Amino acid sequence: MEAPLGTDPTTVEGVDAQGIPCDYCHKVWAVRLDPSTSRPFPHAPGVLSTELRRPPPGEQLFMGPLDDVAPGHDAYSALHRESAFCAPCHFGVFWDTLVYGSYAEWLDSAYSDPETGRTCQDCHMPRTGATHFVRPDKGGLERDPSTIFGHAMPGADDDELLREAVRLEVEVRRDGEEIAVRVAITNDGAGHHVPTDSPLRHLLLLVEATDAAGAPLVRREGPLLPRWAGEGDPAEGSYAGRPGKAYAKVLREDWTGLAPTGAYWNPTSVVSDNRLAPFVTDESRYVFGAPAGGELSVRVRLLFRRAFLELARRKGWEQQDRVMAERTLRLAAPAP
Ligand code: HEC
Ligand code: HEC
Ligand code: HEC
Repeated sequence: MEAPLGTDPTTVEGVDAQGIPCDYCHKVWAVRLDPSTSRPFPHAPGVLSTELRRPPPGEQLFMGPLDDVAPGHDAYSALHRESAFCAPCHFGVFWDTLVYGSYAEWLDSAYSDPETGRTCQDCHMPRTGATHFVRPDKGGLERDPSTIFGHAMPGADDDELLREAVRLEVEVRRDGEEIAVRVAITNDGAGHHVPTDSPLRHLLLLVEATDAAGAPLVRREGPLLPRWAGEGDPAEGSYAGRPGKAYAKVLREDWTGLAPTGAYWNPTSVVSDNRLAPFVTDESRYVFGAPAGGELSVRVRLLFRRAFLELARRKGWEQQDRVMAERTLRLAAPAP
């Protein structure tokens, strides 16, 4: 709070080094949003767009979503139920470039409709069924489980949430000496773009067609995965040049021309952004040469990758691609 622009994160100690503790979120009193855009102001991420309250020495203070709190340390805060609560930390404009914007993506989508939409908390703090959050022998009240929200904050590290994010449809047609594959991906489960948050996140769609012996068929038409899907051995996750498509917001560092980059503390520009907005479907088509006889198989996988492969290798980051959706279709041999 005292030095938002002058704190070196590598020097923090104790509970501060663990991330965002209870005390931070439950001392938020208000968030500052630009009335003309409903978003946080540029260059004002996190604490710079948040009004925090502190108790006097020797006292405590907690802001939270329950309106039956007795006078004392606890204060009712309607804000904690609203997506705006998450806005300061999940929207960041640096050097005039919107680098991450889950909150803005949500605002621009049908999910922000107060009647029919869903809040960030609905999806990321799902109810657990718990009836208490304080032990009964310590005075905890039994509560309606629909008023108690989980704090596990599942994100893109959660396989179940990732699989709920999108729908994958695949159609394969044999057409003489060729097969035609149509792939459609729909963001029908995320309240913002997929992928969202850090511009290092991306999706890789892999389309593989093989003959009865498992040998790959020759691609004749359709998109290929870009250089940044990784150059090298496919067994190690390098998929550049393979049939398929990547979804990402690609930033370029202005001073060096390096792209893609996540170094947004330097000036960057958006080169491209083909991520899937809520309820948007992206379609791609592929044609492979098919041998006259024999069974054929088409395997389509949609992978979530946390960071660009080359960067992750240089940094020594351990990461595992996660399967968001997968389909394998078999085509029987045509009747002789
Ligand atoms: C990232 C911010 C954040 C952090 C960190 C956080 N909370 Fe919460 N907490 C919330 C929000 C938001 C709600 C209200 C959710 C709603 O009602 O939709 C909430 C609700 C609660 C409630 C009301 C009952 C319930 O479960 O909904 C309690 C009690 C609570 N938090 C305690 C804690 C404790 C203890 C910690 C630390 C272990 C903690 N919180 C950390 C944001 C946070
Ligand atoms: C004080 C800033 C702050 C607030 C407020 C905040 N977040 Fe975050 N959130 C972060 C940071 C920083 C990370 C990255 C943490 C990391 O990588 O270890 C994060 C990560 C996440 C993740 C990914 C978790 C994972 O491990 O994959 C989700 C989901 C998320 N936040 C949702 C929310 C929601 C929903 C709210 C509002 C109820 C919220 N956040 C409020 C700062 C915040
Ligand atoms: C309808 C459900 C839904 C709503 C509403 C929703 N999210 Fe998400 N969120 C998801 C899903 C599914 C994913 C996993 C796919 C992805 O990462 O894009 C996700 C991922 C995330 C991540 C993790 C990104 C990462 O790389 O770890 C963050 C951060 C996040 N959401 C923040 C928010 C914020 C902030 C809001 C409200 C402004 C919000 N979400 C609203 C479903 C939702």
